[in-house]
Amino acid sequence: MPSSLSGTLSYIKNFLRDQDVAAIAPSSSFLVRRVCKWIDFSKDQVVVEYGPGNGVFSEYILDRLTPRSTLLLIESNPDFVRLLKTEMAADDPRVVVVEDRAENIVEILRAHDIEEANYIVSGIPFSFLDPDTKDTLLARTQDVLSHNGKFLVYQNYNHLETPLRKHFSEVTKEYEPRNIPPTMFAYEACK
Ligand SMILES: C[S@@+](CC[C@H](N)C(=O)[O-])C[C@H]1O[C@@H](n2cnc3c(N)ncnc32)[C@H](O)[C@@H]1O
Repeated sequence: MPSSLSGTLSYIKNFLRDQDVAAIAPSSSFLVRRVCKWIDFSKDQVVVEYGPGNGVFSEYILDRLTPRSTLLLIESNPDFVRLLKTEMAADDPRVVVVEDRAENIVEILRAHDIEEANYIVSGIPFSFLDPDTKDTLLARTQDVLSHNGKFLVYQNYNHLETPLRKHFSEVTKEYEPRNIPPTMFAYEACK
């Protein structure tokens, strides 16, 4: 997928045009590994990603997912959607790319005949959502996860821990400084 230079350039371009991009660089490999260690890649899984951007998490996940797994990418920025469709989904039947907002997760899963997700990985900026939208999205996310499903989310600063604890039975938090910006928290939230 994108080299780190072209990946960063596409971020800067989209960051300037779309405030929801919320980052000037893709997540670091340290953050990607920290979050994805919570995924069991030994089984067929349905993984949903909110806000894949240029696909730095998606690529790592795809490299490890079984052939019968599914990776559903929900991205609101049309430039990133184009890139993901060309570079991720073109020759991999496991990948579905949807240009939409994570807030519509219930309708998106229904439209793709997916009953539930085993994992939802998210990098969207929850701090940009108004309180009601944030609360509803967390409730919907919890609802569409399978019995032992996990919401794996990374955010700048530790503002999501309390809302996550409201919706999920168990939340583990880790800090990852090796990232731009160096203020990233990763959470494993269990249904
Ligand atoms: C901080 S970037 C993270 C991108 C990538 N996952 C990474 O780690 O490098 C946030 C991404 O979420 C997308 N996004 C923001 N709000 C969204 C929403 N409500 N639904 C879907 N995508 C959203 C942005 O367009 C952007 O690609």
